[in-house]
Parts: sequence; structure tokens; C-alpha cells
Amino acid sequence: VPLRSYNTFGISAKAKYFAKFSSVEDLAALTTNQKAENAPMMILGGGSNILFTQNFDGYVLKNEVSGIEIIGEDDEHVYVKAGAGENWHKFVQYCLDAELAGVENLSLIPGNVGASPMQNIGAYGAEIKDVFHELTAFHLKEQELVTFNNEACEFGYRESVFKKKYKGQFAILSVTYKLNKTPKFNTSYGAIFNELESMGTEKLTIQAISQAVINIRSSKLPNPAQIGNAGSFFKNPTVSKEQYEQLEAQYPKIVAYPVEDNQMKLAAGWLIEQCGWKGYRSGDAGVHVKQALVLVNYGNASGKDIYNLSQQILESVHEKFGVQLEREVNII
Ligand code: FAD
Ligand code: EPU
Repeated sequence: VPLRSYNTFGISAKAKYFAKFSSVEDLAALTTNQKAENAPMMILGGGSNILFTQNFDGYVLKNEVSGIEIIGEDDEHVYVKAGAGENWHKFVQYCLDAELAGVENLSLIPGNVGASPMQNIGAYGAEIKDVFHELTAFHLKEQELVTFNNEACEFGYRESVFKKKYKGQFAILSVTYKLNKTPKFNTSYGAIFNELESMGTEKLTIQAISQAVINIRSSKLPNPAQIGNAGSFFKNPTVSKEQYEQLEAQYPKIVAYPVEDNQMKLAAGWLIEQCGWKGYRSGDAGVHVKQALVLVNYGNASGKDIYNLSQQILESVHEKFGVQLEREVNII
């Protein structure tokens, strides 16, 4: 089964078997057989954070569990449960329409609700962990439903248990978010502040923040419908304050901001750009012209072409700055 239309990188890989499911019963039926065969299984959402470097010799199971509903409230919060197969931005739009705050900074992130806890999606000063309540997941081998609360997900920067110790074991079926009735506006990210100003915003609202984020994102991130990509290819690396100070002495323009434990997070896009990669192209694999952290497929690059390019970038950043980049995209 061709997977090209199922991944935003537009890679022409194939799956041995492919099936869609929209309920836990469907999924249980599908996985019982596969378990018996001991075939590899992979849950697919919107395909916006994966790079196929080879064909998938097993079952690709596309999650189409749908539905968005309010399931409860307390004085300050409203609990909204969404099926894993719902588009993330559609969920954000639902919250905006219902005047529920907490996900407006995360507008227009591609992909589906079910993948949002996988890497604790984040942008413009917010991460889902701050509004996440719980999720329900199905253990593919044990064939049982498990509920994970916020703590059990062990969220970190672009991390969760589902990318680490439980990698490949669970299918997330639904996620419940705890939205705020009264907004706590988050405009700490400089770019949002500037965009709100140039939009002529007089009254701060969650809708205005959402629009500002949409404007910024549209101006620098490539639209996968036009150029294949999976967003940031690498994470922004964290270094010790000492290492940062040494780097800063040598490169006074280095872009970084402080994070906990006396550490600094460096802008990987800046490091990559300084190594001369921004706008680079070899065949159909390249580095986005406006954002060096985003690798792109101009048409017929293979997953291996993109992966090899990422390896060259990783090595050159290490050579120039002594900083080890880590891939953010899930490599398959
Ligand atoms: P997929 O790519 O389908 O899957 C990603 C991984 O999760 C795979 O390993 C898959 O097996 C697993 N998975 C997916 N669904 C489930 C499920 N229901 N149960 C179990 N496992 C599952 N990310 C950010 O955090 N911030 C950004 O600002 C951002 N900007 C982006 C901009 C662009 C232009 C693009 C293309 C991507 C961007 N991303 C960003 C990355 C991407 O949008 C997110 O990682 C998103 O959550 C991926 O969702 P998906 O449904 O497409 O996941
Ligand atoms: N920069 C450069 N050159 C570049 C790109 C960036 O110098 O080519 C510098 C600029 O100084 C810029 C700074 O890096 O001010 C930060 O850039 P940007 O605001 O574009 O954000 P980012 O750090 O590159 C991160 C996330 C994005 C998220 C944005 C906004 C990671 C790995 N990436 O990118 O997430 O949308 O911040 O919050 O943390 C994704 O995960 O796929 C993704 C797109």
C-alpha cells in the first residue's frame, strides 16, 4: 500500500498492510490477528512528524477515532474530550468557538489530537502539558485499555513516555483537555507580541492570539501541501551555562534562552544557518529557505536522502560548535 499521501514529507514508502480503525473494537479485532503473526505495527495519525526511510514491513493502522465533546466542568475549567483521529487545529477551533482558553498559542500545528501527547506538542511559549488532563490508550499486545493522567505521561520538551519506555506499545484513542474559562494570556514569545501590535490589536483575546500565531506560522513554515516537510527536524539543544558562555564569547550573536537547572536552550535553526545550510538543496532534499530547522522534500527525495542530509547537518553543527543535535521527527 503506497504511503505517500499519508505523510507530509511526501515520501514514497509502502506498507505491507494498511488498515483504518475508528473504534477500540475495530482496533482490538485488527490487532488480535497481527499479534498472532507477531508482525510489527505502527499507529498513524496525520503523518506530519514521521520520516519513512524504508518500506514498513508490517501493519500501518490509521487512527480515525472521531468526536469532540464537553464532558465536565468545575469553577475554573471545562473538560473537553477529543477522539485521537480529530484534526488538532479543528480541536483548537472548537475551543476558540466555545471561549475556552489554553490552546490558542498552539493554533495551526499540523496533525491529529492523538499524537499531541506523543511529543507534548508546543509552540509560541505553550505546551499541551499545561492543559492536558488525561488520555485513554489501548495496549496493542496486552489488548487492554489504560488511562494515563498528566504525571503518568512524563511530559518533557518534545517528550513523553510514549516516545520513550512505551514506544510503539500503545494506541492513544482519546485525549481530554482541561481548558480555562478565564484566559491567562501568554504573549511572552516576542514574535506574538510584535504580530499583535502590527495587527493593530486593541483588545487581547484568545482569538487575536490565535490569529497572530497563524500569521507568524504561515510566514515562515512551509505548507506541506506545497513543499514536503515535517516541521522542525531537530530539537533545540540544551547546554550548560558554562558551555553557553564559551560559545557566546566566540559567537556573540548566538541565539539562546535560559531554562531550568542553570541551563541554556540554543536555537538549532541559528546553529544550522551559521553552518551555511539554510536554503541548501541537493537533488530534491533540502533545507528550508526561511527556516533552517526544517528539512524539505521538493518532490521525489527518498527518506534516505532526507536522513543522510540530516546526518551531514548534525555532523557539521557538532564540528563547528561542539553541540550535539537530536532529531525530533520520528524516524521509521
Ligand atoms: P504522526 O506523524 O502520524 O505520528 C507521529 C508519531 O506518533 C509516530 O511515531 C506515530 O506512530 C505516533 N502516533 C500518532 N498517533 C498516535 C496515536 N493515536 N497513538 C499512538 N501513537 C501515535 N510540532 C510541534 O510540537 N510544534 C510545532 O510548532 C510544530 N509545527 C509543525 C509545522 C509543520 C509545517 C509540520 C509539518 C509539523 C509540525 N510539528 C510541530 C510536528 C507535528 O505537527 C506534531 O508532532 C503532531 O503532533 C504530529 O501529529 P500527527 O497526527 O501528524 O502524527
Ligand atoms: N533562527 C535562525 N535561523 C533560522 C531559524 C531560526 O537564526 O533559520 C533563530 C532566530 O533567531 C529565531 C530563533 O532561531 O528567533 C527561533 O526561531 P523560531 O521562532 O522560528 O523557532 P524555533 O526555535 O526554530 C521552535 C519549535 C517550533 C515552534 C517554534 C515556535 C522546536 C524544535 N521547534 O522552533 O516547533 O513552532 O519554536 O514556538 O522546538 C516543530 O516542532 O515542528 C516546530 C515547528
